[in-house]
Amino acid sequence: MIHRFVLVALLTLFGLAPLTAAHAEYADVVLNRYAEKNGMRPVIYPHWFHRIRFRCKVCHFELGFEMRVGSNDITMGKIIDGQYCGMCHNGEIAWSVEHCDRCHSGLPGLKTGIQGGHKTGGPGIW
Ligand code: HEC
Ligand code: HEC
Ligand code: HEC
Repeated sequence: MIHRFVLVALLTLFGLAPLTAAHAEYADVVLNRYAEKNGMRPVIYPHWFHRIRFRCKVCHFELGFEMRVGSNDITMGKIIDGQYCGMCHNGEIAWSVEHCDRCHSGLPGLKTGIQGGHKTGGPGIW
């Protein structure tokens, strides 16, 4: 963490800070504990897309998402039951689960974790 801040400070001097900021902000989260094993492409969760629409506490407190990649045991059954992604992707707050490919959009082989840094860098839907 400290190193990162030092780096940001240095890059700011050279006018490169926006690149660094984009790296942190636009990263997508790959969720692939179960998807590929069950014949679906990995899920790309666009964190930034959601972060600009909802306050952090909506998901990380009220909806109970742990703030660590891969730490939530999200399954399709739970989503259909209205948990996790399904708390919003239910056809009311956001489009519903029938749009499989919008979530299962990752390239085969991606591992659970933070993926890519900017719009053109990742395999995501950006
Ligand atoms: C709103 C996003 C979203 C949509 C839409 C969606 N899924 Fe998923 N799905 C997930 C997530 C998140 C996981 C868990 C990913 C992981 O860690 O492997 C998952 C997991 C799965 C799994 C793995 C087995 C399991 O029980 O979890 C299958 C199979 C699956 N989805 C099928 C589908 C099908 C078929 C559709 C369309 C009818 C669909 N999904 C639509 C987000 C979505
Ligand atoms: C719409 C729901 C949602 C909102 C809003 C949201 N997050 Fe997240 N966040 C998630 C999900 C889902 C993950 C991935 C969890 C996983 O992999 O199991 C995640 C992961 C994270 C992580 C771990 C990955 C990383 O990038 O280091 C951090 C930290 C985090 N969120 C912080 C925040 C902060 C700070 C905000 C507000 C500015 C925020 N989140 C808003 C759903 C959300
Ligand atoms: C707090 C509510 C909320 C939660 C929780 C949530 N989403 Fe979303 N999501 C939205 C809304 C609202 C949109 C925008 C819908 C629209 O454009 O009509 C969206 C859009 C998306 C998009 C499309 C992004 C784009 O570029 O158009 C994807 C993919 C997605 N969500 C995946 C997920 C996955 C996977 C999860 C669970 C890990 C999740 N969402 C959890 C509210 C949520």
